[in-house]
Amino acid sequence: MMPYIQGRSASIPDIYAPYREIVDSVFLRKGDIGFLTIDESLATEGKPHRGQRAQYARALHTEAGRDPNKIYYGWGGGWGKAPHRVTLDRGVRILLANNLDESCAVWDGEHEDTSPDGDIGHAAAQYPYRDATFLRAGDVHEIGILTPHESLPVPRDFNRQFLRIISSGVHGREEYFTRNPLVPFN
Ligand SMILES: [Fe+2]
Repeated sequence: MMPYIQGRSASIPDIYAPYREIVDSVFLRKGDIGFLTIDESLATEGKPHRGQRAQYARALHTEAGRDPNKIYYGWGGGWGKAPHRVTLDRGVRILLANNLDESCAVWDGEHEDTSPDGDIGHAAAQYPYRDATFLRAGDVHEIGILTPHESLPVPRDFNRQFLRIISSGVHGREEYFTRNPLVPFN
């Protein structure tokens, strides 16, 4: 998760140059601060690419967690661990994309009563696959911070690319956020 300027590839370091065209053409609001996550790694047959922290059989989650005081927390690069140092505005929006068909499922709606770390695997019965939208490779899908979605087990070993753009409205930072020398951020 790295701060950058949405729609402006000049605001990302050269190491991410292969993503410049995407950065320039995919954004929530051009010119706003955004937060970019790129994950390129081997997904193993039968396991979700990004579900290692799931505590239940399905890696079903919301991007944000919340505490009983209704404060929204970011989970950063993975799902959050207390103490959280990041809060999210309720209206934060997120774009998701990846390069493997049907490796991410999204449900319409919002799961307001999410857990402190965003894991909602306990509520899986509310989210049957027949009601899901399955992302195709190259699709860009917009969700909210409490939209239920799931990283699905992949059918074969696969070098998966995952891309996420989070809008402005993220306050604070976690130590594991990637620093961007081109965009000072506190
Ligand atoms: Fe997610």
